[in-house]
Amino acid sequence: MSTVGFIGAGLIGATVARLAVQAGHDVVLSNSRDPKTLLPLAAALGPRARVDTPDGAASAGDTVVVTVPLGALNDIPVAPLAGKTVIDTSNYYWQRDGHIDALDDRSITTSQILQDRIPDARVVKAFNNINFAHLGELARPEGDPQRTSLLVAGDSADAKQQVASLLSSLGYGTVDAGDLAEGWRFDNGQPAYGRPYISPDASPTSLYDMGPGRPASDSELRDALASASRSV
Ligand SMILES: NC(=O)c1ccc[n+]([C@@H]2O[C@H](COP(=O)([O-])OP(=O)(O)OC[C@H]3O[C@@H](n4cnc5c(N)ncnc54)[C@H](OP(=O)(O)O)[C@@H]3O)[C@@H](O)[C@H]2O)c1
Repeated sequence: MSTVGFIGAGLIGATVARLAVQAGHDVVLSNSRDPKTLLPLAAALGPRARVDTPDGAASAGDTVVVTVPLGALNDIPVAPLAGKTVIDTSNYYWQRDGHIDALDDRSITTSQILQDRIPDARVVKAFNNINFAHLGELARPEGDPQRTSLLVAGDSADAKQQVASLLSSLGYGTVDAGDLAEGWRFDNGQPAYGRPYISPDASPTSLYDMGPGRPASDSELRDALASASRSV
């Protein structure tokens, strides 16, 4: 088992932290404020969870999950992440984040923005294309016919393998979508974004209420990646 550091502990961070604790990992939670603000969440997660600053969470994690609003990527600590595998969950919504030309024309991906900030870390894009509620409910042990896969992209094969092992312990298989530059294929608006995990019976009312989730197979995810379009 390992220690997973979290920079950001909101909807997606707290969900991944809960899965990690259930799998037997230790977690270190942080946000932009006094770490004491996260004590209620840590207490709910139990004795494997503790709180710290972003620097502390980055230093403690064997793997570090960066799960903050896009604009906050500029605040992520650099030195303590050197040499580490860092999972980036971020998404770009111009309506929420303001227009960023290089993301609008898909000449860069959000995870490449983070990789540029922390060049000595190994960034892997994951968790961005699944709603937090579906992520929480679809985890299944290896061998379960209902097990779901998640997409990963990254420039380091070793880092992707480390993330695949972590995801497996959390209850998910992995489909490799390629290097970070291919990450746009499962970004907001693409067929692989959210939809593979949404029940056909559901009528989503918002980004936060997608109805019940459903397992997505490797072949379905590969098909969705292949049908991605830069013009979306
Ligand atoms: N919600 C989902 O279902 C979902 C699914 C996949 C991916 N995502 C993406 O993942 C990212 C996080 O989403 P979310 O829904 O989890 O957001 P959220 O619920 O708003 O949580 C964001 C977390 O980041 C912390 N934070 C904000 N600024 C920070 C900074 N400068 N340094 C450290 N921590 C900071 C926040 O705490 P404080 O404000 O207290 O600092 C909070 O804990 C977004 O890019 C989102 O698009 C979301």
